[in-house]
Amino acid sequence: MPLAQDEEALLLDNALTLHRERTFDVNDLDGLATPFLLIDEVILTRNIERMADYCREHNLALRPHTKTHKSLEIARRQLAAGAVGLTVAKPGEARVMDETGASLLIAYPPIIPACLTAIEELRWRGDIIVALDSFVAVERLESILSRNGPGVGALVDIDIGLGRTGVSNPEASTQIAERIVACAELRLDGLFCYPGHITELPDEQGEPIARATEVLRRHLDAWVANGLQATIVSGGSTPSAYNSHLMTGITEVRPGSYVFNDANTLRGRHCLLADCAARIVTTVVSDAVPGQVIVDAGSKALARDQCFPQPVTGYGFVLEYPEARVKSLSEEHGQIDISQCSRKPRIGERVSIIPNHICPAVNLTDVMWLRTTGGSLKELRVDARGMVR
Ligand SMILES: Cc1ncc(COP(=O)(O)O)c(C=O)c1O
Repeated sequence: MPLAQDEEALLLDNALTLHRERTFDVNDLDGLATPFLLIDEVILTRNIERMADYCREHNLALRPHTKTHKSLEIARRQLAAGAVGLTVAKPGEARVMDETGASLLIAYPPIIPACLTAIEELRWRGDIIVALDSFVAVERLESILSRNGPGVGALVDIDIGLGRTGVSNPEASTQIAERIVACAELRLDGLFCYPGHITELPDEQGEPIARATEVLRRHLDAWVANGLQATIVSGGSTPSAYNSHLMTGITEVRPGSYVFNDANTLRGRHCLLADCAARIVTTVVSDAVPGQVIVDAGSKALARDQCFPQPVTGYGFVLEYPEARVKSLSEEHGQIDISQCSRKPRIGERVSIIPNHICPAVNLTDVMWLRTTGGSLKELRVDARGMVR
């Protein structure tokens, strides 16, 4: 839902206040060549702690999705704050996150050989869990997992409204669960769902959450009727994160983007500007065309995702010039419309852009720069960068 005009004005005002009150200027970070990804440790820490506190308060286990940061150090911070384990999408990410020693949930159908091989290798840790939604996946796992190793936990993925992966009815989830029980190498751990379709304003999520909860309840009832046990019911996403306690039946959540937030969560009103920890710092390199400037961050730094709550806002939020609009991206050029700006950025000046979708933006760089609580800069590697298989 688009922001109302007065809310947009408030957002611009907040950005200017935040900019004025900032204790540092990105122009002072001139030892680092632009474009680079800057993470504010104060905000990062607050985001990690807030989610961990919420989960503790509501007796929900937290298994953050590491696809957002792909960083061992940030994963370790999430674990230190109380996460019970980590979620990954692809087995390559699992191999990287293995170094944390945390229990890992592979939230992706185990179908391709590379995925199955990784699961066979990682199972010896004893705490691997996999989400799946087909007999084919169970059969492939059965064929690759050697006898007499530790069991691999399996969660049956159910669709609660997104329509991506997940079986669509309780008969199917029950039958797959029974097939898992019959497989000696697998352990039936429970159910898995992803409320990625719930993007309403936080205080308008009651109805969609009730609908998703009803779907989940039907699966759980069918499992009970068939003598099947769901010890884990895994759900959660960033837009619905702080309403997760309303989804009766789930035992754990897997939010990812919350750790940094982005222009999507900001404009969807799922966070405040002060909760956005990540920005791409970029330099103005041209003002040749009146009414616009060009920065050295294009689609190879910002990623090309549109802002799904408000596509008209362009490709990110310019913190220092909130009236500006990143109207177009080519690979190495960001084209910024400054016609509505009261002040104009000058050639050579640096500005900070909050990307629309932080997850693909992180995956475009080898390192993130953490501006520490003490004001120094620390390099954080994007350890699982490019692990798409
Ligand atoms: C299966 C699954 N779980 C959890 C998440 C985390 O969602 P978010 O980034 O909204 O927190 C994602 C994101 O794509 C996902 O695909």
